[in-house]
Amino acid sequence: MNPTQSRLPTPPSLKNLPPEQQREIAMVQNNVLALFTHVAHRYGDVVDISNENWQAYLLSNPEHIEFVHVQTGRIFDKGYNEPATQALLGNGLVTSEREFWLRQRRMIQPAFHRERIALYGKVMADYALRMVGIWRDGETRDLHADLMAVTLEIILKSLFDTEVGRETQGFGHSMDRALGGIAGMFGGNPDAQNQFGQAVGEINAFTARVIAERRQNPVDHGDLLSMLLATQDEEGVGMSDAQLLDECKTLIMAGHETTSNTLSWAFCLLSQRPGVEAKLHAELDRVLGRRTPAMDDLRALEYTNLVVKETMRLMPAVWSVGRKAAQDTEIGGFFVPQGTDLQMSQWVTHRDPRWFENPEEFRPERWADGLEKRLPKYAYFPFGGGPRICIGNNFALMEAPLILATVAQKYRLRVLEEPVLEPSITLRPKHGLKVQLEQRR
Ligand code: HEM
Repeated sequence: MNPTQSRLPTPPSLKNLPPEQQREIAMVQNNVLALFTHVAHRYGDVVDISNENWQAYLLSNPEHIEFVHVQTGRIFDKGYNEPATQALLGNGLVTSEREFWLRQRRMIQPAFHRERIALYGKVMADYALRMVGIWRDGETRDLHADLMAVTLEIILKSLFDTEVGRETQGFGHSMDRALGGIAGMFGGNPDAQNQFGQAVGEINAFTARVIAERRQNPVDHGDLLSMLLATQDEEGVGMSDAQLLDECKTLIMAGHETTSNTLSWAFCLLSQRPGVEAKLHAELDRVLGRRTPAMDDLRALEYTNLVVKETMRLMPAVWSVGRKAAQDTEIGGFFVPQGTDLQMSQWVTHRDPRWFENPEEFRPERWADGLEKRLPKYAYFPFGGGPRICIGNNFALMEAPLILATVAQKYRLRVLEEPVLEPSITLRPKHGLKVQLEQRR
């Protein structure tokens, strides 16, 4: 260890707290969002939150968060070593590290260039329209289930050029069961492991079959898979089938639940703030009239975009990201031993009153006068940053406002039951989102 670093102080720790402070912690212990918020406010920007099983710091200062993001691949790694994540995603873009990740990222990046993903704008708009096309005035629906289905259809079509049908629905069910299996395994359910293994088998079989069919019949479908099949690294080597499988599964997983959660939260927040909802409706009526929204309208739908932006601040679909220190280092004057897990929580930082006035308030207008330029760079980081920044951010920033606009043009949604927040890998409504549809005249 570097001798100067070993003399650095260690950050405030949750261990050996006086009884009064232990009681405060006990009150929020079962709710990780409240726990992280409490810890950051009470103990500062760098806090040792380790317990018997986990050595971890919580970082809440944008400068420190920037440092860790930017130094990922050098001082820090993503550090995924959870067997379930590995089984589900393999060694794809989300989980891979260092040189291997870099080679993959370079090969996949062109498929996500703005002009390329603009091709999928029509898919997004058409599928959103098809979703609302079967809705009926006055009906009660689980909006979250609808959004999960439509975002899955959109990513499957963009990736594989597959139409919605029995097969994609089957894929959706396997996906639900795999995710349910993970949650169950955390909860100690003995059947969960089986359910998970079976669902992962189905997901692999479907994906491997699409890849094999394409290898045999290599026509350009104009989809993401066509790009992935054609791409080569600097030595002219393409991806193996096993690697393609991992990357496809990763894109499907990373690319649909995040967007559907964001939209569920957007409709929840809109339903709580009629003033914001009215302004959104006014913009849609002014810009679109009766025309259904398309890609080319997105630029003019300024307030719609701000609604998405503000939703991702208050209800970030990715509510915390982690890194592992690959070596001893220093953050904010404190010693960070190798192996420490560094948690950086969008939930905490996006609600920090140092950066956001009335942080709990859903107010899309706050972004209108260049707020983002005045903020420290990592005070708002819904898509992460540095080399591991979300590869699908532009995709999501087309998809979310298009679906939002398509729904809100036709319907006002009344949320019937307060959703329960589930901070799993993503922040999702635990039992779905029950809404009543009210057709807009
Ligand atoms: C609102 C929607 C989305 C949100 C909030 C979101 C958020 C994030 C965040 C925070 C990360 C970085 C995680 C970390 O640093 O540990 C990430 C990575 C990633 N996201 Fe997204 N994402 C969204 C949509 C998408 C979509 C639509 C796709 C694909 C179509 C996608 C694919 C990925 C991939 C592959 C990575 C790993 C990138 C790498 O490490 O090279 N995401 N996302």
